Amino acid sequence: SKLADITRDVLIVGAGAAGTTAANELRKAGLSVVVLEARDRVGGRLWTDVIDGAMLEIGGQWVSPDQDALIETIDELGLETFSRYREGDSVYVGPDGTLHRFTGEMFPVSAETEKVIAEITERLDAMVAEIDPDRPYAHPKAAEWDSITWDAWLRQQTDDDEAVRNLAFATGSAMLTKPTHAFSLLQSLLMAASAGSYSHLVDADFILDKRVVGGLQQVPLLLAERLGDDVLLNQPVRTLEWDDPSTGSGAGVTATTDSLTVRARYAILAHAPVLYDRISFVPSLPRRQHQMHQHLSMGFVIKVHAVYDRPFWREQGLSGTAFSPYELSHEAYDNTNHGDERGTLVGFVSDQNADDVFELSAEERKERILESLSHYYGPEAKNPVVYYESDWGTEEWTRGAYAASFDMGGLHRYGKDLRTPVGPIHFACSDLAGAGYQHVDGAIRMGRLAAAQILEADRGDDTAADDAPELVVAEV
Ligand code: FDA
Repeated sequence: SKLADITRDVLIVGAGAAGTTAANELRKAGLSVVVLEARDRVGGRLWTDVIDGAMLEIGGQWVSPDQDALIETIDELGLETFSRYREGDSVYVGPDGTLHRFTGEMFPVSAETEKVIAEITERLDAMVAEIDPDRPYAHPKAAEWDSITWDAWLRQQTDDDEAVRNLAFATGSAMLTKPTHAFSLLQSLLMAASAGSYSHLVDADFILDKRVVGGLQQVPLLLAERLGDDVLLNQPVRTLEWDDPSTGSGAGVTATTDSLTVRARYAILAHAPVLYDRISFVPSLPRRQHQMHQHLSMGFVIKVHAVYDRPFWREQGLSGTAFSPYELSHEAYDNTNHGDERGTLVGFVSDQNADDVFELSAEERKERILESLSHYYGPEAKNPVVYYESDWGTEEWTRGAYAASFDMGGLHRYGKDLRTPVGPIHFACSDLAGAGYQHVDGAIRMGRLAAAQILEADRGDDTAADDAPELVVAEV
């Protein structure tokens, strides 16, 4: 086999939040690392860029108060945060297209519908409280809850369609970004448990609380900066040879990219699970991983930015926070940058709605989406000075947004093996997280976990090495 160009203790595939966190943790513990990144930039699903003169968060951006791992990292890197603008009324568009203003968390629906939503929310909070986000499959009802769709379960609770739609979208269009008939009740409960409760998820002031001044991509960028030359861009890993430790040959890995051969004792795959399959494993991964990985798929959402010469909605006493399960853009917010006099709105178009608008020309799509925003904010919304659609579906090294989830029954069936290493190969990304699932916080937690697993395995190996002479003597 080819001589290695680079030899390290650990090679990490992917320079997103998970990979850059893991690399720094391992370095701190005295191991040498190299991070191989397919793209020409660091950050993965975090990407802060300037589009037509406007700084936009093309990927992840919000930080919520329970996200300790992310908050610690932000503090440690010396980054500043600011609160999302939230003065004034939120808006809701009802089934007949009527615009309602409201404050607080409860949508302005009829008293009857409000009662139904409150009752089911209470039921959901109680169920979520029983779910350990790290082990959702361990709940006594996991099998049952994983065999009914989120939509079907909600429709069993009530025949109030408006209540169902409003309850459904918190984990559906807004989080897993798949149609609510395409994932299970258990997957929905995990999504809520990963944020502490179902109520947290529907509370925009909680889940979409703060942003980082200058953009959230600085987290992986600053972490990568500390690694210096040990982060290599434009290096998609094509092949990963590994020694099966059960065959006895001191486990290790050899990765090849288009131009490099990298050898290490351990590897961390720090990218979305839908991309494991892009790597040729030699020998192949075990049957369990082959099967499991086929049951994980990315959700799909378009994040739309519209920048205006001023935040005109504030003049009408609107906070910018807008929801409607009946609108093309099911949620939208004030996304004005810190200290910017211009006003920015961000809207989201999810799952089948996203598929539908991608059938249209770019012009028609823009018109349809701005039309939807104008239902919330009035006709001025139709004339932004900058307009941008994040389309992660076309990104070869991501393939959707925000993250991956199991198909029906998959979480109960495979959940326990999601983070289990295979020989020297470890897995880390937001898609595998319990707390912080699908979020940057989860990516950081998974990066830390994979690093800790390797450090523990490494201590085990050292102990084994120390014991070896004794063993030989005993055998003789
Ligand atoms: P990520 O996907 O970021 O990193 C993996 C890296 O591996 C990528 O850089 C990729 O190029 C690389 N890679 C893949 N295959 C490779 C190979 N074979 N060889 C080499 N490199 C390879 N979260 C949040 O907390 N708040 C929010 O507001 C949002 N909002 C949001 C909006 C949008 C539009 C998106 C797309 C996502 C969010 N998220 C979010 C989610 C959050 O951005 C996401 O969960 C994490 O950034 C994922 O970080 P990871 O490091 O796990 O994977």
